[in-house]
Amino acid sequence: MPATSKTPKPIVSIIMGSDSDLPIMHAAADQLTEFGIPFELTVVSAHRTPERLMKFASTASARGIKVIIAGAGGAAHLPGMVASITTLPVIGVPIKSSNSIDGWDSILSILQMPNGIPVATVALNGAKNAGILAASIISTFSKPIEKKLIAFKEKMKADVISKVKSIKGKGYKNQFDS
Ligand code: RP5
Repeated sequence: MPATSKTPKPIVSIIMGSDSDLPIMHAAADQLTEFGIPFELTVVSAHRTPERLMKFASTASARGIKVIIAGAGGAAHLPGMVASITTLPVIGVPIKSSNSIDGWDSILSILQMPNGIPVATVALNGAKNAGILAASIISTFSKPIEKKLIAFKEKMKADVISKVKSIKGKGYKNQFDS
């Protein structure tokens, strides 16, 4: 949808090393959409477009961004490099991509940051949790988002309880449910 003067300004940036990461990263966008959090989404490659990375990370805060979600695979330097430039919280999504050996390369490239430059790393392909974690950070200063997160957790709880009942209905027993 084209931006208009009425389009809310993005407060979360979702970036990824390649458009080949989008099939995984869209889950972060879907989650932010569900919570009603305005976001931007684009490709920024640490290795192929280093100047674009520098421009993105050095202007993000001034543009009103509060949280950055960065996904990459293989030699996944994007989240760490962004975190080295900005003071904003950076959530890293390791992606099992075409140039990954088995996904551990992506995980360790993003997780094993040196002291001083943290990246909040979610699970392999964990873009949904990245969206939820971004919402949690936003909820520290936004009551409406806090309320949506509470409702989200309540729904998860209700879903589990309904599964408990369904399993019980199949004749399985446990000792602590009356
Ligand atoms: C990484 O290399 C990207 O984040 C992607 O996961 C991977 C493969 O990129 P393409 O070769 O598909 O563009 O930098």
